Amino acid sequence: MKKIAVIGLGYVGLPLAAAFGEKREIIGFDINKKRIAELKDGVDFTREVSREELAAASGLSFTDNLEGIRDCQIYIVTVPTPIDEFKTPDLTPLVKASETVGKVLKQGDIVIYESTVYPGATEEVCVPVLEKVSGLAFNKDFFAGYSPERINPGDKEHRVTSIMKVTSGSTPDIADEVDALYASVITAGTHKASSIKVAEAAKVIENTQRDLNIALMNELSMIFSRLKIDTHEVLAAAGTKWNFLPFKPGLVGGHCIGVDPYYLTHKAQAIGYHPEIILSGRRVNDNMGPYAAAELVKAMIKAGHTVASSRVLVMGLTFKENCPDLRNTRVIDVIRELEDFGCSVDVTDCWADNAEAEHEYGISLVESPKPGDYDALFLAVPHREYAGKPSKELRAYLKDNGVLFDLKGVLPLGEADLRL
Ligand SMILES: NC(=O)c1ccc[n+]([C@@H]2O[C@H](COP(=O)([O-])OP(=O)(O)OC[C@H]3O[C@@H](n4cnc5c(N)ncnc54)[C@H](O)[C@@H]3O)[C@@H](O)[C@H]2O)c1
Repeated sequence: MKKIAVIGLGYVGLPLAAAFGEKREIIGFDINKKRIAELKDGVDFTREVSREELAAASGLSFTDNLEGIRDCQIYIVTVPTPIDEFKTPDLTPLVKASETVGKVLKQGDIVIYESTVYPGATEEVCVPVLEKVSGLAFNKDFFAGYSPERINPGDKEHRVTSIMKVTSGSTPDIADEVDALYASVITAGTHKASSIKVAEAAKVIENTQRDLNIALMNELSMIFSRLKIDTHEVLAAAGTKWNFLPFKPGLVGGHCIGVDPYYLTHKAQAIGYHPEIILSGRRVNDNMGPYAAAELVKAMIKAGHTVASSRVLVMGLTFKENCPDLRNTRVIDVIRELEDFGCSVDVTDCWADNAEAEHEYGISLVESPKPGDYDALFLAVPHREYAGKPSKELRAYLKDNGVLFDLKGVLPLGEADLRL
């Protein structure tokens, strides 16, 4: 049986490595030494894989040393694919990981990429790096595959093995081999795409479609706010039609939905097409933080609060609920806008790591906010610990006449003063 190495043990790489590790020998490689040391101790800070699951993955071992992956025949690359400050793809981690694999690449090896990219990136960017560093020829000496990941961090129902997986390979035989490899662990089955580019495009449009659907809900929410009708009530009514899609308004953060569309638009622009709909959705979604802050400020003024000296409690900083991931959280836009209005903002989050919040955003999380202390409470991220509270417990943090903004509409109708 071929030996596998997974390159990059984050939200995507670790659960995948653990799934294979239950069935066969697999080595997890990461440049982050601290991450490797923690995993060797059975600790996954992302909370995606439990200590018990790590122990059950008896074929899985970890290394931060190149020598540890030299004798593998299949390399699966799961490193980040962020955007830079100009919102263009930053392929540095992917190139660096390809250089790493290139150093150990041998005759007959297969390199499968899982990171989300634009159509063409695997063959146009990664494969040339592999060829250059290894001195081997593509589709003669070594082969490539692409199989995008679809996991949803924090979601304990849709896990790597229970989500159908798209696979592809650089030749028909390799496509079959890649497909069979994943089919051996993915209980939900696999879908073999006709080419690597098709598989790459499939992933990036899944998230682009989601981004656009949320943008539509956000635009509707802004219209309905002016019409003084509740968006969630409208959605509940419209949702009784069989083909009305159940999207909700909200902030679009994280490193997938708010990022991946830029990979597609970047490639589109490179080939002379200027996307209008995709970028317009991005604009709407990127503007939701300042919009929500302004709505809160209006409500505070109406309730008689002096905004410039007000105290606001923001509950939840991570990019989504029940997940410790702080990267690209758009809650920060709300906080910065409120601060711009002169509000003094406290942030609490029972899932986030205080040191990371401090390091990334200069925010020192408040562990136990004081009851009766705040002019407004902005329930940004409804972690189960917050969404499970009766609204009167949330209101206990507020002064008399304080404003409760339930961003995602998780509280029963009428219990918050505002929602999107
Ligand atoms: N997190 C998600 O929900 C999700 C879902 C589907 C797809 N994806 C995609 O999967 C890819 C990985 O995302 P993630 O969330 O797991 O990222 P992550 O940041 O959680 O993990 C990436 C890991 O790769 C390591 N790494 C970085 N450069 C490396 C290198 N050169 N060599 C070895 N290791 C290296 C990092 O130390 C980190 O541990 C991205 O393309 C992302 O868009 C993510």
